[in-house]
Amino acid sequence: MQIDIVTCLPGLVEGFFSQSIVKRATEGGKVSINIIDLREYGIGKSRQIDDYAFGGGAGMVMMIEPLVNCIKDLQSRTRYDEIIYMTPDGDLFDQKTANSFSLKGNLMIICGHYKGIDERVRESYITKELSIGDYVLSGGEIPAAVVTDAIVRLIPGAMNDETSALTDSFQDNLLAPPVYTRPADFEGLKVPEILLSGNFKKIEEWRVEKAIERTQKRRPDLWKKTL
Ligand code: ADE
Repeated sequence: MQIDIVTCLPGLVEGFFSQSIVKRATEGGKVSINIIDLREYGIGKSRQIDDYAFGGGAGMVMMIEPLVNCIKDLQSRTRYDEIIYMTPDGDLFDQKTANSFSLKGNLMIICGHYKGIDERVRESYITKELSIGDYVLSGGEIPAAVVTDAIVRLIPGAMNDETSALTDSFQDNLLAPPVYTRPADFEGLKVPEILLSGNFKKIEEWRVEKAIERTQKRRPDLWKKTL
């Protein structure tokens, strides 16, 4: 899988990907992540990428021409399954979307800035608009990193322990059960007996029970989806 992230702040995204678990996945060859500087497609000597909004109003708009030139240039080299635009008015990103995107081929992710991108790019080139939550960030870089991280860790072989991603919260619409490690007794704070029993069938039953309890208590909205 190839994930190409288009941004006018490449340093911001590079920092994240040079440190995270995603880096290991790229080293293993399961996925390649490229960061594309939109300014390289900017107009004129100043490499302009934004302009005032038609009709007036505060805030700049990302221009159509640099974006479309960038998209076309990338498309001339790579076939994309989705061209994603990160925006607070997109579909809410969740584990189900992460799962389905992890099975795709190549993705292009466009990070918005200022007031957003010219609507004509959205209408003619973007295949999926994603939001990471009901709040507005100053750009799409952090959302793009969130989405990429959530997808990459699901690609088989990308993580150390391949089964681990399957037991994350939100797989099956359940929150994950509590976890413990050594020591079994810390200043009187004890690990549940069952986890030390070696009875793996009982342990699995306990985990399911705790996951259900936690989901019912903390996320009744999620629990309803499992019924
Ligand atoms: N850009 C700014 N805020 C965002 C959000 N919440 N989700 C996705 N992209 C964004």
